[in-house]
Amino acid sequence: MSVSTLLDPAALGQLRLTNRLAVAPMTRVSATADGLATTRMADYYGDFAAGGFGLVITEGVYTDRAYAQGYLFQPGLADDIQGEAWRPVVERVHASGGRIVAQLMHAGAISQGNRHRPISKGPSAVQPRGVQMSIYRGEGLYRLPAELSLAELDEVVGGFASSAVRAKEAGFDGVEIHGANGYLLDQFLTDYTNQRTDGYGGSLERRLRICVETILAVRQAVGSDFTIGYRVSLGKVNDFTHKWGGGEVEAAAIFQTLSAAPLDYLHTTEFEAWQSAFGEGPSLAALARHHGTVPVIANGSLHSPVQAVGMIARGEADLVSLGRGALTHANWPHRLRDGQVLEAFDRALLSPVADLANADRLRGVPHGVA
Ligand SMILES: Cc1cc2nc3c(=O)[nH]c(=O)nc-3n(C[C@H](O)[C@H](O)[C@H](O)COP(=O)(O)O)c2cc1C
Repeated sequence: MSVSTLLDPAALGQLRLTNRLAVAPMTRVSATADGLATTRMADYYGDFAAGGFGLVITEGVYTDRAYAQGYLFQPGLADDIQGEAWRPVVERVHASGGRIVAQLMHAGAISQGNRHRPISKGPSAVQPRGVQMSIYRGEGLYRLPAELSLAELDEVVGGFASSAVRAKEAGFDGVEIHGANGYLLDQFLTDYTNQRTDGYGGSLERRLRICVETILAVRQAVGSDFTIGYRVSLGKVNDFTHKWGGGEVEAAAIFQTLSAAPLDYLHTTEFEAWQSAFGEGPSLAALARHHGTVPVIANGSLHSPVQAVGMIARGEADLVSLGRGALTHANWPHRLRDGQVLEAFDRALLSPVADLANADRLRGVPHGVA
């Protein structure tokens, strides 16, 4: 299979895409302090569509004005003003022929900056592993979270649903529920962060319950013609090497349950997408494709076209998403088409802070343009 297969059309539910290349969700902490998307963000997202990416997935966007926000200057969809602020971003992407999905994120126990609440809350009062991320202005250990009450869990689910409605109203082509990387929904799924003894903890079915309720609530809120995806990972931003205790058997149950909820796609992410998920056997993407019933977007170090097309050729994925590759070249798809050089990612883009102003400084954009 030739690398040009990456440029073939694809579909996720009702959503028709010009090719199989997506921009992975990337937090850039570049909204206003109130969580409003900016004109600089419209340029940033528009550039990916102009550069040929068929699908742009936004950074994780927070879903309520309680405990969802993870980072200061993170954009939200938690109220109507925040929803309206996304409209110019969506219009820019559409004007360049791209499609755009909003990633809906609740940070839960690993929130490190929330203008709405002074404390964090998660499934259980368990000290999160790891340390806060300095590229998002964090420092030191995470705070000890408090346990979400059942009433607060209803608000969590309601936040995802109302944010999805605002995304639809702003013109987005779909939403992706962030169930990966150690954020709230992943905290429920993970045995050591979920120590609840009520109906949301214990067995795998109970640890998945809020994930399924979230998908159902979002589906009910947006209707059947709006694309809904769900992101899944083994590793976490604060525990890179985590694996599900039940291995492939647990993976099968997770992907069957989620895709039946019902979803339009699954988005798997691992450090290297093609590696075996559990030491031997299939990759996480392949497990999702085999046990789920929906298309799979694979993510993780797929910025080499040969690696990327390999995922599709081997039947492990339907689309691929690029994070660092897209940051290096917003026009990665056009460069692939035209046979241009694809350069290596420069970490300085995200350091000391992973915001757009930092990237502009590095690229010599005159002050004020950012
Ligand atoms: C700056 C930065 C911010 C990220 N923010 C998010 C995010 O908001 N949501 C998410 O699901 N993943 C996030 N990720 C993970 C990426 O989506 C992706 O999984 C990761 O970069 C690996 O893909 P790559 O090898 O193509 O870069 C982020 C990654 C980077 C580099």
